[in-house]
This record gives sequence, C-alpha cells and structure tokens, in this order.
Amino acid sequence: MNEGEQQHVETIVVAVDGPSGSGKSSTARGVADRLGWPYLDTGAMYRALTWAVLEAGADLDDAEAVAEAASGVQVVVGTDPAAPAVHADGTDVSVPIRGPEVTGAVSAVSAVAEVRERLVAQQRALIAEASDGIVVEGRDIASVVAPEAPVKVYLVADAAARAARRTAEQGGDSGQVAATEADLRRRDALDSGRAASPLAQADGATVVDTTHLTLDEVVAEIVRMVDAVR
Ligand code: DC
Repeated sequence: MNEGEQQHVETIVVAVDGPSGSGKSSTARGVADRLGWPYLDTGAMYRALTWAVLEAGADLDDAEAVAEAASGVQVVVGTDPAAPAVHADGTDVSVPIRGPEVTGAVSAVSAVAEVRERLVAQQRALIAEASDGIVVEGRDIASVVAPEAPVKVYLVADAAARAARRTAEQGGDSGQVAATEADLRRRDALDSGRAASPLAQADGATVVDTTHLTLDEVVAEIVRMVDAVR
C-alpha cells in the first residue's frame, strides 16, 4: 500500500444463531476468547428488558403494555467474553436474568416488535464499535442484525443433548432433564413461531451440529471458518 493511502479493513462479524441450549454461549465466548475479540450476547439484552418488564408488573399478554414498560429502560451489556455483565437502568442483572422468572417470560417480551427494533438498533451500534471482529450470538443475527456477516453459524443439537447440558449447567440432577427438555421445546416453538424475526437458519449459514462434538471441537471449527475469510 502507498504511503498515505487509507487501508480499510472490514470488521469481521461472526454470527452465531441457534435454539436454546445448542451451546451458543459457551461456543461464542470460546471463539471470542481465542480470537481476542469482543463478544455480544443479544439474548442477555432481551433478558435484561424482560427483567425490567417484570419489575414494572406489566401484563405479558399485552404487547402494548410490554412495549411501554420496556421503552425507557437503558440496557448496558458488557462485551468482554470473560465477564459479560448486564445492567438494566444501572442495576446489575447478570444473575436474575438467568433465573426461572425471566426465562419463563423472555419469549413473550422478545416477540414484541418495538422491543426488537430498539435492541436490534443497539446491537448494530455495538457491532459498529468493534475493530477487527466481534462474535455475536442470538436467534436473528445472520438474518436481521448483521446479514452481511462473513461468518454465519447455525448451531443445532438434539433436544435431549441440549436438555442434559442445560441441566448440568444449572447444577440440576438427572431427574430434571425431562422438565428442562420440555421447557427448551416450548421456547423453541415460541421463538420459531413468532411473527417478528422468528428463529430460523439464515441463507448462507453453516449448520454445525454440536450433539457429538466437544466445546473445543466446535470452537476450533468456527475459528477455522474465521481464518478462511481473513
Ligand atoms: O439465548 P438466550 O436463551 O439467552 O435468549 C433468551 C431469549 O431471547 C430467547 O428465548 C429468545 C430471545 N432472543 C431473541 O429473540 N433474539 C435474539 N437475538 C436473542 C435472544
């Protein structure tokens, strides 16, 4: 390159989509950690707004009330893969957003179009701040948030494998796997069936089935995909 010439290097967005429990979070954090890139957990943003909507006591069956309760809430999400803290109006909600109340309500809140519009705009702004690259996980990253992402991964795993992993993560015993699997299937149906940006494999996305792979194997596979585009 000649002296004084501007080199324009595009930020590499790694979009990681897939259903609940497919291993998205561990995978996306692992890839970000390996590459030294930031990591954006968009599910945590929907969960933070859900926490605030529940605090406000809004009726989850009333989309307008949910949109109204969520409208003024400031969500701040950290992008360090080692410690991605989440705040809603200044309160650290990193722990309560993983609890059963928020998990039970998040599909209803994330189905509200106004909620999605706001969070998608915020997600695009966070992606625009990244320099070399960023790993973004969610349900609609490759289809809506960053359709130009050069690396699009759609993670899948058997429902039984997903339930077993989720139960182990939550410190539950094997007797809880069936209930966890039922909950995952319920959320899959809600996330896939909603009108606004349903969960679906985007055009050009590579399906990675994690059922029989270790976390390290999945991370390595995605890092290879990133290396192939840079
Ligand atoms: O990935 P997660 O389980 O933390 O996501 C929580 C919920 O948020 C999930 O049920 C669907 C919703 N979600 C979404 O609609 N769009 C995203 N990009 C991320 C999550």
